[in-house]
Amino acid sequence: MKSDTVFVCNECGRQLLKWMGRCPGCGEWNTVVEKQVSTARGASVSGKSDGGQVGAILPLPQIRGDEQPRLKTGIGELDRVLGGGLVRRSVILVGGDPGIGKSTLVMQALGSLAAAGETVLYISGEESSEQLKLRAERLSLGGDTFLVLVENNLELIVEKLGQIDPSVVVLDSVQSVSSRSVQSHPGSVVQVREVADTLTNCTKRGSSACFIVGHVTKDGILAGPKVLEHMVDTVLYFEGDRGHPYRILRAVKNRFGSSSEIGVFEMADRGLVEVANPSEIFLSERPVGAPGSAVTALVEGSRPILAEIQALVTGPVPGQGRRTCLGTDSQRLALMIAVIEKKLSLHLGDHDIFLNAVGGLRATEPAVDLAMAAALLSSYLDRAVPTGTIVFGEVGLAGEVRRVSRAEERINEAVRLGFKRIVAPCSNAEQAPRLPELTMVGVAGIKDLAAALFQ
Ligand code: TYD
Ligand code: MG
Repeated sequence: MKSDTVFVCNECGRQLLKWMGRCPGCGEWNTVVEKQVSTARGASVSGKSDGGQVGAILPLPQIRGDEQPRLKTGIGELDRVLGGGLVRRSVILVGGDPGIGKSTLVMQALGSLAAAGETVLYISGEESSEQLKLRAERLSLGGDTFLVLVENNLELIVEKLGQIDPSVVVLDSVQSVSSRSVQSHPGSVVQVREVADTLTNCTKRGSSACFIVGHVTKDGILAGPKVLEHMVDTVLYFEGDRGHPYRILRAVKNRFGSSSEIGVFEMADRGLVEVANPSEIFLSERPVGAPGSAVTALVEGSRPILAEIQALVTGPVPGQGRRTCLGTDSQRLALMIAVIEKKLSLHLGDHDIFLNAVGGLRATEPAVDLAMAAALLSSYLDRAVPTGTIVFGEVGLAGEVRRVSRAEERINEAVRLGFKRIVAPCSNAEQAPRLPELTMVGVAGIKDLAAALFQ
């Protein structure tokens, strides 16, 4: 195979024909490195997977569209986030902070596939085979079809991949593997892109599905999963607070499913346990009868989840008050404050305001507006939202409450968890199912909300 040399900037990834001390793309000094490219590559990258139809112009009806059966990992929460299981020849990036549980998650998925008779390959560039064995024992995983390769060199990995044909491959992690063709340290932008690019090409040519694990990095020395998002089919982030047992697996991009799906897990002694009823855990430590807390119903991907929104309004303080948002949208908070000030003639400008979606959830959909307003009013007035009440709805600039989508699913989830009173937009309330013991309160504006909750 013939090979040529190009030069690539380690900072911005720009390709240059000759070496330069300063990258003309980003202006950084000493970031340009040499990279070997084989001229044979690139011609038949995805040709095989499309039955040789690449490059031909075809009428849409002539293209085969038969969807292949998906490979279930057996971990329900992961399968749902993937859009119903793994698609062959797809590449899934799993990002997350170091220590959050990425290796545990992918290893459990492989273990479950191996137990179902699939051949799987776990490539580790970070841990020794002994460490992997210890983890597998802790997770009670094994089986003859669970193969392990400890290797840091990309070319050797590709060579080994050519010798076997596993159903699923995991590379843990993209930052620990490097290519000889790039003269840059492992984990640099150029290296992680080269590794992900090569593995993506291999996957598209073969028949396996491939997980690439990447650590989210705070400093600029290691390149994080962000620089790879455009190259892969699916991007999942594993999030959570290491001090707490709950973890959320979130799809942010998915060519084969919804990108707003989340999966919820609990990190236990023997690995990750699926949380089948997330609403229950997100509400489990809710202070009942305390001012500043409101429960709302979110829709995350394919299912409704109940969440607690907490507000703390303190002050007044000299000058403009501080606003802090956790898991909620700061723009929508600003809007809610403005609407409350204007429509209810309350003065919040010089109060410090904190807003939190409890449990590490991201409550950013418009349906959360009404719960944000309820929590703010509750804290400001120092009066609790009546127990057993759920609030959802979008609030407009004129203080009007607007209908939201999938109200019935939200209501059913609230009823399932024992909530008896639902404060919702009028049009949603009118169409709600009539259930015994359930009181629907339709509100048309923010004034109605205050009346429904605190009078
Ligand atoms: P790990 O999967 O190694 O994280 P990552 O690959 O994202 O860096 O998980 C690391 C943490 O998970 C570690 O602090 C120990 C904890 N853990 C458990 O609590 N229970 C378990 O069964 C396992 C395997 C790990
Ligand atoms: Mg790991």
